[in-house]
Amino acid sequence: MSAFKDFQNKWTPVINEFLKTKLAKEIDDKKLSKIMSYSVMAGGKRLRPLLFLSTLSALDRKIGQDEIRIACGIELIHTYSLIHDDLPAMDNDDYRRGMLTSHKKWGEAEAILAGDALLPLGIQWIANASHSSKMVEIITQAIGPNGMVGGQYLDIDSTNNETVANDSKFINQMEWLKTGCLIEASVEMAAVYGQASDIEKVKLIDFARVFGRSYQIYDDLVDVVETTEEAGKATHKDEEEGKNNTLTLLGIEKSRKKLEELIKQAQDDLHGLHGDVLAGFLDLYKKVL
Ligand code: IPE
Ligand code: IPE
Ligand code: MG
Ligand code: MG
Ligand code: MG
Repeated sequence: MSAFKDFQNKWTPVINEFLKTKLAKEIDDKKLSKIMSYSVMAGGKRLRPLLFLSTLSALDRKIGQDEIRIACGIELIHTYSLIHDDLPAMDNDDYRRGMLTSHKKWGEAEAILAGDALLPLGIQWIANASHSSKMVEIITQAIGPNGMVGGQYLDIDSTNNETVANDSKFINQMEWLKTGCLIEASVEMAAVYGQASDIEKVKLIDFARVFGRSYQIYDDLVDVVETTEEAGKATHKDEEEGKNNTLTLLGIEKSRKKLEELIKQAQDDLHGLHGDVLAGFLDLYKKVL
């Protein structure tokens, strides 16, 4: 088995157990707790928490309860972004992680509030477990107007807007902001928290930038390559909904080529690090190539 698979098999159940027990314990209102937990526990690859933990492991750092809390804080924030992304006013999706979306299951106001609650709770977990304002700065920068939400705004603003359809600079920037920034932050937080050397930090962040950029291209390919069952969410709808993305810009074959180039670049960035587990994240892309 690959180093990545071993790592994933070891830590995914730990992440899932932490999320389940702490959400049940630390939220006073049991119905709100249930609504939040529904989306968090619906599944999901746990990519960002695993990235945080495997970066620590590449730096030979120990993983204990604090590190798990930080990792899970990132997952809460990611889940908030998915709940809001699926809302009728945004992408209007009925399925996520193989289950009904939050607003379909609980109602729109409830879904908005579950997302609103997951966001600060995630930041709180990161702050409490890291005791570091730098960590809070990295995560909030990555998900705010100059990060994820800024990217989501560009996505919404450019939907059904032909003028950006061929604008590769715009599409690169939108996809970087909406998806790349949080992925980069997951690695950067581990580099800071794990006190990486300057050289290690540069390599890890270079890797994370390339991986973060490539991840939305992968997701855009999932939309055309996978079935709804495989993806756990509606597919074959980006183009129909008037989304402009790498795939509508380049078409399927050129998008695959671009993804392959980024994979090579990401592998190169890991040279000189204990990066076997991190390199394994790139295997995820095999499904769409
Ligand atoms: C989907 O993220 C949305 C994007 C930011 C591309 P993931 O592919 O990580 O979704 P889950 O967490 O596994 O459900
Ligand atoms: C979502 O991008 C990005 C964020 C949630 C920040 P998409 O809209 O392409 O993600 P999916 O395909 O719904 O998972
Ligand atoms: Mg979207
Ligand atoms: Mg969406
Ligand atoms: Mg998508």
